[in-house]
Amino acid sequence: MRTGIFPGSFDPVTYGHLDIIKRAEHICDRLIVAIAKNSQKESLFSVEERLELLKLCCKEFSSFVEVVSFDGLLVDYCRANSVSFIIRGVRSVSDYEYENMNTAVNKKLAPEIETLYMIAGADAYLISSSIVREVASYHRDVSEFVPSIVSEKILQKFEV
Ligand code: COA
Repeated sequence: MRTGIFPGSFDPVTYGHLDIIKRAEHICDRLIVAIAKNSQKESLFSVEERLELLKLCCKEFSSFVEVVSFDGLLVDYCRANSVSFIIRGVRSVSDYEYENMNTAVNKKLAPEIETLYMIAGADAYLISSSIVREVASYHRDVSEFVPSIVSEKILQKFEV
């Protein structure tokens, strides 16, 4: 069985992430969508909130997707859970450069784990979780970028 992992902060999950998850069905038998910690980022949603939203948004993929969160290094999680490759979405040259750095570190730590880059869908270059947070913070509609449950929850975060 080919198990892949799609790790990220998912703060919050966007249509860009869901596009990658949907397309990953063609390349793995089982996909773990994992909320991991990026030590450079402060989050708006707690891990529990992100987990709940991701689970709701991944319901339609439940036959092959499992949603989890973990602490610690990604490669350690992969080894402990028989994950053979990491999937990362790439939207732009700057994403590519950033991903290459992470991939190189992961490769040093665990040479047997491959990283696959999936080119983001045509509309996804406009989307990022921080753009969604920024727009929502001004009480503007973000339903073009995220599922309705996410847009509802994020607007609640900025209610006064
Ligand atoms: N469509 C739309 N947006 C996308 C996207 C796509 N296909 N792919 C990525 N993005 C956006 C995300 O929304 C996010 O936006 P933001 O920066 O505005 O929040 C950004 O691109 C990238 O974030 P994400 O994919 O969530 O990754 P990350 O850089 O926040 O997290 C981890 C990277 C969590 C996977 C990494 O830090 C990790 O592995 N942590 C565990 C500890 C570890 O092993 N560290 C060593 C790593 S070398």
